[in-house]
Amino acid sequence: MSSPRIAVVYYSATGNVASMARSLASGAAEAGAEVIVRRVAETAPAEAIAANPRWQQFIDTASDGIATLDDLAWADGLAFGTPTRFGGPASQLKAFLDTTGGLWFSGALASKACTSFTTASTAHGGLESTILALNNHFYHWGSIIVPLGYVDPHVARITGNPYGASWVSRSGTPPDAAALEACRLQGLRLAQVAGRLSAHE
Ligand SMILES: Cc1cc2nc3c(=O)[nH]c(=O)nc-3n(C[C@H](O)[C@H](O)[C@H](O)COP(=O)(O)O)c2cc1C
Repeated sequence: MSSPRIAVVYYSATGNVASMARSLASGAAEAGAEVIVRRVAETAPAEAIAANPRWQQFIDTASDGIATLDDLAWADGLAFGTPTRFGGPASQLKAFLDTTGGLWFSGALASKACTSFTTASTAHGGLESTILALNNHFYHWGSIIVPLGYVDPHVARITGNPYGASWVSRSGTPPDAAALEACRLQGLRLAQVAGRLSAHE
């Protein structure tokens, strides 16, 4: 199997998705992948961010680079993470995805391995609908969708979401060890599938 390139691209306002992104990246690296982690550009007005100390702190301390279209073109496997917003992806991530028309038209995203992950404050507040909405982009791109599945007993017995890693943050609680383990497994699986699809030395 060749060494795949994995890009983990996320939006996070208060840090939960960012933590999940790091665990997913660690799983991909464990599988031998070359991994980059990127956040999408913030588009919310400064006043809205300043009104939420956790949001402001995340912006002030964020160290991951801003995602570009070149990052997507570079990768063999892509993982997209977003907080659930009214049952769907955050507009910041959607805005970035809406700039992929040129890549889509050229076929550059076809046959890449793609997967999604999310967090919501409630168990029934839209975890699956958010992942499925993100996955719609992959159908249009012609990508190979990589679900988390119940392949690993950890998902079957503990976290339970085969659509993708997820975390119920309640009143802002950061992802626990079980959720981060599901992210790690998702990164591992993504890298394994991308490795089989790609042809790098
Ligand atoms: C505008 C807005 C909309 C949200 N919509 C939902 C929702 O539909 N369902 C839900 O359970 N949580 C919802 N949440 C909560 C976030 O999904 C949750 O706090 C998440 O863990 C934040 O992730 P982050 O720390 O990476 O930003 C919403 C939060 C905001 C600010």
